[in-house]
Amino acid sequence: MCTRRATADDTLAVHRIADATFGDGYLTGLPDGARTLVAEVGDQVAGFGWWEPQPRAQAEQMATVPFPHRCAAATRFACVKTVAVHPARQRAGVGAALLDALLADARPCADVVWSVAWCRDGTAPIGALLTRVGLTPFAMVPGYWADDSLVRGYVCPACGGPPCRCAAELWAGDALL
Ligand SMILES: CC(C)(COP(=O)(O)OP(=O)(O)OC[C@H]1O[C@@H](n2cnc3c(N)ncnc32)[C@H](O)[C@@H]1OP(=O)(O)O)[C@@H](O)C(=O)NCCC(=O)NCCS
Repeated sequence: MCTRRATADDTLAVHRIADATFGDGYLTGLPDGARTLVAEVGDQVAGFGWWEPQPRAQAEQMATVPFPHRCAAATRFACVKTVAVHPARQRAGVGAALLDALLADARPCADVVWSVAWCRDGTAPIGALLTRVGLTPFAMVPGYWADDSLVRGYVCPACGGPPCRCAAELWAGDALL
């Protein structure tokens, strides 16, 4: 297995994985070529993830709730926005490898790394992996994607929405100041 930066040639494979994990139509285009990474097993794309640099105001707007006190001095935020692994390739270390690569990419550019984790049946599937890289949960936001799913019209594979009724768990690392 290896991880690398995504290219336009990966768009179809990334969309197939997004459709299978988050619902048809969740993703349009490649989110951000420069900060989208893919994991390959053999010559096939098995998963992808991306992160976004955010000034504090943008991160606060996205979080919708206050960040924990330990992030008070942080001004440069890096949000791990998506990690998704094809269902046939899950539980084989692909997600962990992607998260390691995303954090290695993001940490030099950020005071704090954070993430919005999708919850199925009350728990975030990615929670164990986020814990492994030093993030801890600080808030649970019910119906976090409800408006977004209505506007963009994707069908949530967990709850069947729009509107998506799933909660988001917000996670953040220690400030790297
Ligand atoms: C959450 C997700 C990204 C995890 O990806 P993954 O490739 O399955 O993750 P990993 O294989 O690295 O780790 C998952 C588990 O497999 C275990 N594992 C790792 N390597 C393994 C191996 N070789 N054999 C068996 N199990 C292994 C890990 O210990 C981990 O176990 P745990 O959940 O009990 O802690 C994936 O399940 C997914 O895409 N889910 C749907 C989309 C989603 O919810 N994304 C997160 C949105 S915020």
